[in-house]
Amino acid sequence: MLSDAERREIEEDIKAYADRKMGCVGALKIVQRHRGWVTDEALKAVADHLQMTPDELDSVATFYPLLFRRPVGRHVILICDSVSCYNVGYEDLLGYLTKRLGIGLGQTTEDGRFTLLPVACLGVCETAPAIMIDSDVHGGLEPPEKVEELLKLYE
Ligand code: FES
Repeated sequence: MLSDAERREIEEDIKAYADRKMGCVGALKIVQRHRGWVTDEALKAVADHLQMTPDELDSVATFYPLLFRRPVGRHVILICDSVSCYNVGYEDLLGYLTKRLGIGLGQTTEDGRFTLLPVACLGVCETAPAIMIDSDVHGGLEPPEKVEELLKLYE
């Protein structure tokens, strides 16, 4: 069931679209902002609200890398594994982060602070290797120790 606030925000957001279904990504982002991730129950509630089937909506949710269908930490680190980053330090950066955080891709630190996920090109190839933490993109992370200063910004 959607909360009153979620329902109100979704209704406001979908006014911009001719078809309610076209607002499905925005609606899922709203639910995720309120709940931290998109639970099965939330997915079904949004689908009902937008007159979609849960399967239709889940196919969108699982395609879009900034929508999380599992619980995540307080901050999500998305590490770019596309060609420019792969060629300029991706493996070193991934190795550094997994060792530093004690987790692998798809995992969350024990204190719930960070989740580490892969992502396709972040659009800043000229500054490869790059990551995104929450909604902030950071490039130029070579050598990988440069990531230390960034991690301090996200408690
Ligand atoms: S390949 Fe990593 S930002 Fe484009």
